[in-house]
Amino acid sequence: MADKKDDPLGAVTTPTPRRKPKPEITEIAGRPMKPSTLMMGHGFDPALSEGSLKAPIFLTSTFAFENAAAGKRHFEGITGKRPGGAEGLVYSRFNGPNQEILEDRLAIWDGAEDALCFSSGMTAIAVLMLAACNAGDVIVHSGPLYAASEGFVAKVMAKYGVTYIAFPAGATREELDDVMSRAKAQAEKQGGEVPLIYLESPGNPTNALVDIEAVKEARDAHFDPDRCPIAIDNTFLGPLWQRPLDHGADLVVYSLTKYVGGHSDLVAGSVSGAKKWVDAIRALRNTMGGIADPHTAWMLLRSLETVELRMQRAGENAAKVCEFLKNHPKVEGLGYLGMIEDERQQDIYDRHCLGAGSTFSVFIKGGEAECFRFLDALKVAKLAVSLGGTESLASHPASMTHLSVAEGRRAELRITDNLVRISIGIEDPDDLIADFEQALEAV
Ligand SMILES: Cc1ncc(COP(=O)(O)O)c(C=O)c1O
Repeated sequence: MADKKDDPLGAVTTPTPRRKPKPEITEIAGRPMKPSTLMMGHGFDPALSEGSLKAPIFLTSTFAFENAAAGKRHFEGITGKRPGGAEGLVYSRFNGPNQEILEDRLAIWDGAEDALCFSSGMTAIAVLMLAACNAGDVIVHSGPLYAASEGFVAKVMAKYGVTYIAFPAGATREELDDVMSRAKAQAEKQGGEVPLIYLESPGNPTNALVDIEAVKEARDAHFDPDRCPIAIDNTFLGPLWQRPLDHGADLVVYSLTKYVGGHSDLVAGSVSGAKKWVDAIRALRNTMGGIADPHTAWMLLRSLETVELRMQRAGENAAKVCEFLKNHPKVEGLGYLGMIEDERQQDIYDRHCLGAGSTFSVFIKGGEAECFRFLDALKVAKLAVSLGGTESLASHPASMTHLSVAEGRRAELRITDNLVRISIGIEDPDDLIADFEQALEAV
């Protein structure tokens, strides 16, 4: 990704400069501090903002230079005419103080060198894919993907001559070898490369897990790891319950709209990973825009202070709710990571996951009519798409989020008419159980 065939916009060679606040304290007596501690102050120096304990919201489109020579020096740094790069902020399409602090803090959670924030999860995914690919290239991706991601690969990237090969989430090393060989042959035929392996794990909405370690082994065996990063959408379990960079992924993608934002009141996204990958994506974001706005970035800073607390509570609540749903006579089954029935999926879970999350599928006995009666009877949980908020949400993917997915593909992915997706929030667990109990009575 770093050495694109051509760079007509000069985007790759002009990364956004970063201004650093005072040296950070990240350990005490040799003991590294945990992310939950660092979320309160990391990356923000009150002395740069009139002593304000919390970062103000910086609503500005541009940043003043101290003098003309400083302006010249800045651009010499950006353009590489002076070694050492550029410091300070220059223009808000590239970056701003709130977004820089947010990016520093997001990187901490994933154990990443760098991070970028975007105006939505889909913007993050789109810019990542556009930055990675040239005409003729082939994207290898796991399935299922969030419907818009799948559509972006199949319909939008296709317009630019990029094709794809998809593999089922649980694919083994042997199956992955076959996928990689086919992708290589397809790319050679098209005069391109395989510049990106894109995963989503767990997949939306089935919770199917991808073996990231097996994907990395297969990637290393078939492609040059320096030219073919593995990116993974970690929205369902991150940042608490899965750390993909520890298992061989190179880039982690989020819809921050979900658990990280966590209050169903904003839309944003991010990408994190090693600087060499992140810089190429940043360069395209600099050119196109798509960075999160300062107000949203500020809201996310506030959200990050409680993300661990919220996710822990939601995870505990989901375990209790699923324990109740598991044996209910009107429930056919659950797609909950705390109750996996498939040996291969359990093995991946044991190696990759630190918690079962709070978003799962419940298969109600019957079909669409029974699911609709259940959804319409809910009193505490709200009937809405999205997930990862403080409040519990329920939706019917086959007729809502995944309606655009072809019927055959829906069946292949087990997105059946009797599947209700539930995202558990931080309410009282007994109230939630009482709500699901009375809604099941209405089925
Ligand atoms: C797994 C996953 N990835 C990406 C997205 C897209 O994120 P956004 O809605 O923030 O653009 C979603 C949204 O539902 C999602 O569930």
